[in-house]
Amino acid sequence: MADTHGAAVSGHGPGGEVTKRDMIKLVATAGAAIGVGALAWPFIDSMNPSADVLALSSVETDLKPIAEGSGITVVWQGKPIFVRNRTPAEIKEAQAVQLSQLIDRTDGLDKQRVKAGHEQWIVLIGICTHLGCVPLGNKPSDPRGEYGGWFCPCHGSQYDTSGRVRHGPAPLNLPVPPYAFTSDTKIKIG
Ligand code: FES
Repeated sequence: MADTHGAAVSGHGPGGEVTKRDMIKLVATAGAAIGVGALAWPFIDSMNPSADVLALSSVETDLKPIAEGSGITVVWQGKPIFVRNRTPAEIKEAQAVQLSQLIDRTDGLDKQRVKAGHEQWIVLIGICTHLGCVPLGNKPSDPRGEYGGWFCPCHGSQYDTSGRVRHGPAPLNLPVPPYAFTSDTKIKIG
């Protein structure tokens, strides 16, 4: 135990080189730091807004690099914005959902949450409506919950591929920010 602790503090093996065990510890520490940062987004944002981020009233985003079934996070006015390229199956599933199946029925129809003619794209403010964590689900390898959208690891809320909350405790759907298509492959958020 004493040896393990020493290695973690020094970060090096007996000859001064970084050992495999040390690397595992460093990676685990970095992962924990990233995790805390991701979960504390609104808090950090309100404590330390970056002037250049706040100054941007709109952000243009190129959709071309976003593979079908994947999403990216763009920062707009200090908030994480999810931009996801939905598969045909995900679009069909999102459109088939009835208001009666939803926790929050405001803007609950899929067609109210996307732009006509661009149904493959969903754009959402990526802050959980429970207590403000950033849900997971942009990458296909992320946990996405039972409804295939986003999963909030803080208390288990689940959102579908339209960003609607389908399992609480989050009370509201993920909001859609103001945005417009400036071409078939570009959007301007804000
Ligand atoms: S903050 Fe997302 S479920 Fe609590």
